[in-house]
Amino acid sequence: MTATSTGGSVDERNPFVYVVAALAALNGLLFGFDTGVISGAMLYIRETFELATIFGYSMNPSLVEGVIVSGAMIGAIVGAAFGGRLADRLGRRRLILVGAVVFFVGSLIMAVAPTVEVLILGRIVDGIGVGFASVVGPLYISEISPPKIRGSLVSLNQLTITSGILIAYLVNYALSEGGQWRWMLGLGMVPAAILFAGMLFMPESPRWLYERGHEDDARDVLSRTRTESQVAGELREIKKNIQTESGTLRDLLQAWVRPMLVVGIGLAVFQQVTGINTVMYYAPTILESTGFEDTASILATVGIGAVNVAMTVVAVLLMDRLGRRPLLLSGLGGMTVMLAVLGAVFYLPGLSGGLGLLATGSLMLYVAFFAIGLGPVFWLMISEIYPMEIRGTAMGVVTVLNWAANLIVSLTFLRLVDLFGQSGTFWLYGVLTLFALVFCYQLVPETKGRSLEEIEADLRETAFGSTVGDDSPRPAESDD
Ligand code: BGC
Repeated sequence: MTATSTGGSVDERNPFVYVVAALAALNGLLFGFDTGVISGAMLYIRETFELATIFGYSMNPSLVEGVIVSGAMIGAIVGAAFGGRLADRLGRRRLILVGAVVFFVGSLIMAVAPTVEVLILGRIVDGIGVGFASVVGPLYISEISPPKIRGSLVSLNQLTITSGILIAYLVNYALSEGGQWRWMLGLGMVPAAILFAGMLFMPESPRWLYERGHEDDARDVLSRTRTESQVAGELREIKKNIQTESGTLRDLLQAWVRPMLVVGIGLAVFQQVTGINTVMYYAPTILESTGFEDTASILATVGIGAVNVAMTVVAVLLMDRLGRRPLLLSGLGGMTVMLAVLGAVFYLPGLSGGLGLLATGSLMLYVAFFAIGLGPVFWLMISEIYPMEIRGTAMGVVTVLNWAANLIVSLTFLRLVDLFGQSGTFWLYGVLTLFALVFCYQLVPETKGRSLEEIEADLRETAFGSTVGDDSPRPAESDD
């Protein structure tokens, strides 16, 4: 094992840091629950409300449904847009607390909504909480983690996203009998309350504290999550890179930051336009067309959710051993092949029997390949590649783009299927996945095992040192 400048090897395993990361990863649970729950609830919301009017204006019911479903994504775009700057201003921990309260209030509003307008308001508020959570969860965990286990700890956030989706599918299934959509949506209050209560006892990010001039507090947090020998080294590095001013949007465009801005934006957009959420939102619809009955397709959807969780566990275990690039690139390769197969299977006439199973199996493998690579690596990378003074702002910007792409893909999926058929749509996502593979191969750096300060120093050196213009990926650090 190479010793990094931040200290030793095996002794990174201070149990407290796992507690902090696991608790902060509940941010992902809010995100995932919100993603998974609405498709189930929507079936029954239709029966409670007259969806043909909003504020007295008559509307197409499917448009109103679209607004209810996408309201949370619009909220998340707003939340992420402000979340980055707020994380820099208020601090990471305080923004997590605010996000939990906002999400709690949104879930409560939805659960008791007397009218469809109030329900939409609840979705937007809930989404703002998700937007905050999606930026600040990975950011906080990344800054609190020792370098050698940072990949696994930040990926816990993706594990809770996928678990949240699976829990939501199960809740939908359990509550579908009585059509209890208010409970489905209201249950989001539980993880929000746990996150809030737990975070009251967690420390602020040592890097944010240091930047704000609280050196003693920063040292104190580091001592609680590191061994003695590591604290001094890590503090020295943080000191070296520190800037007094917090960055603005314009700072994002500085020449030396720009390559990483491109990487973040590319990953954000590719994570969505390669189609994952068409499966998360529309799996039952896709599966029904392969010959599954109603209930069977819901159960198969639960199966897809379980594969997503299981493969994310594998990613958590491998992230710091294999590195980000091998997982990302092999995951993208696998996704491309699976999308090609799905397109072919849907192209053939008559999907029942063996072909139906092949379609379901390919769909599961596609999700598995996403779960091992692009899913966790996007959130991890964007918490690692930006310099301290603009980290929050930069993460906010790329997260907004991720949510915007998510919204566009979910709004256009059914239309694309109308236009190109299911096979054409899968092939289209397949081509975009191939582009993603080339992009990542060329531009995404390996960050395994390096401290956030080393990554930042590298970035400056690449821009200002002799390696200007060299955009070839850095080789993975040798580890053990
Ligand atoms: C993505 C979400 C997606 C989820 C599926 C996340 O990384 O950002 O949009 O729903 O993975 O597991």
